[in-house]
Formats: sequence, structure tokens, C-alpha cells
Amino acid sequence: MSERNPIELFRKVYDAAVATGMRDPNAMCLATIDPDGGPSTRMVLLKEFDERGFVFYTNLESRKGVAIRSNPNVALTFYWRELQRQVHVRGVAQPVSDAEADAYFATRPRGSQLGAWASLQSRPLKSRMALLLEVARIEGRHLGGAIPRSPVWSGFRVVPHAIEFWKAGAFRLHDRRLFERIEGGWRETRLYP
Ligand SMILES: Cc1cc2nc3c(=O)[nH]c(=O)nc-3n(C[C@H](O)[C@H](O)[C@H](O)COP(=O)(O)O)c2cc1C
Repeated sequence: MSERNPIELFRKVYDAAVATGMRDPNAMCLATIDPDGGPSTRMVLLKEFDERGFVFYTNLESRKGVAIRSNPNVALTFYWRELQRQVHVRGVAQPVSDAEADAYFATRPRGSQLGAWASLQSRPLKSRMALLLEVARIEGRHLGGAIPRSPVWSGFRVVPHAIEFWKAGAFRLHDRRLFERIEGGWRETRLYP
């Protein structure tokens, strides 16, 4: 895996992770900075990636949504135990287009579409019953018909400016390759483990 392009290298590693049959190879830890300057993290699912960046979907009014609105600098970490590999990404979260979000929302299971409308993600919930009643209410509104995307549910593309590949080595002599974006391409640096 000696690519000079970190996105192509990421694709190889990611494909290898998928090929292991592991659960949720697309799970990644997303770190954001809250409006008060404090960090927060949570897992999200990578839904697409290419030269432009790494895409995930969420509720725009969730804690992470609010954080990104006030500070779009984010970091991602992938860990694939089966491969003994880790990837870090640092970048800027940019909203995906409405058309892109609509297209992805349309592929989601109906239950997930209803959930996207019903969940005021990250805000206090009185009881689980209140959530289930809300799902039922929204289902009643759309009986049989297509469910449009909620205006507060969309995606972000993390446009990377640094991507680091970590591979476990014997005696903790791990292999670390850092790619940093420079004019017209990427600069690669090896790091001590
Ligand atoms: C494996 C895994 C994948 C997840 N994927 C997503 C996701 O793609 N989008 C999302 O909004 N929440 C996802 N969640 C839930 C988040 O981790 C988190 O609980 C939720 O988004 C609220 O986060 P916030 O309060 O920091 O905004 C996932 C959780 C796990 C454990």
C-alpha cells in the first residue's frame, strides 16, 4: 500500500476492512468543538468518500450540528481492529447539497426516515413513549406516501487537510504516514510511533 494519494490509500484500507466482514467498518469517531470551546466526540457512519471528502448524515440541530455551525473544524478517527489499522482525518465540515441529502434520504429505510422526523436529536426527551408516539403521529401523516427529508436532517462532507495512516507494528514500532494537503496535492511525512 504505497500510494502517494491518501484518498486512494484510504480506499484500499477501507475495502480491506469491508472484506473482513467486520460489523460497521464505516463507523468513525467524529470530534467537534462545542460553542463553549470544549471538545465532544461520538460515533457516526461514513456514507460516502472520494477526493472531495468524507460524508456523514445527522440532525443539524443535534449537539454536533450546533457545534459544526459555530466551528466547522472537525476530526475523524477510524479503527479497524481486524486490520490493526487506524486512520485520523482533520478537516473542515461543509454541508452537502440539498439534492445530495435528498437522494441519500430516499435510500433510507422508511423507519429511519420516520425517525429522522421524530427525533429532536440531543435534546431532552420526557419518555421513550413520547418518542414512539411522535413516530406514530408522523407515520399517520404520511400513510403509504413517500416521506420527504426533514429540513433539519442532512449531511456534512469533511474536507480533509490532513490524513494519517497508522498500522500496528511489532514491539510498538508502528508505522505512521501523515499526508498534509499542499498546493496541488499532498505532502507525505513519516512520524515516529
Ligand atoms: C456505530 C454508531 C454509528 C452511528 N452513526 C450515526 C450517524 O451516522 N449519524 C448520527 O447522527 N448519529 C449516529 N450515531 C449516534 C451518535 O453516536 C450520537 O449518539 C448522536 O448522533 C447524537 O450525538 P450528539 O449529541 O453529539 O450530536 C451512531 C452511533 C453509533 C454507536
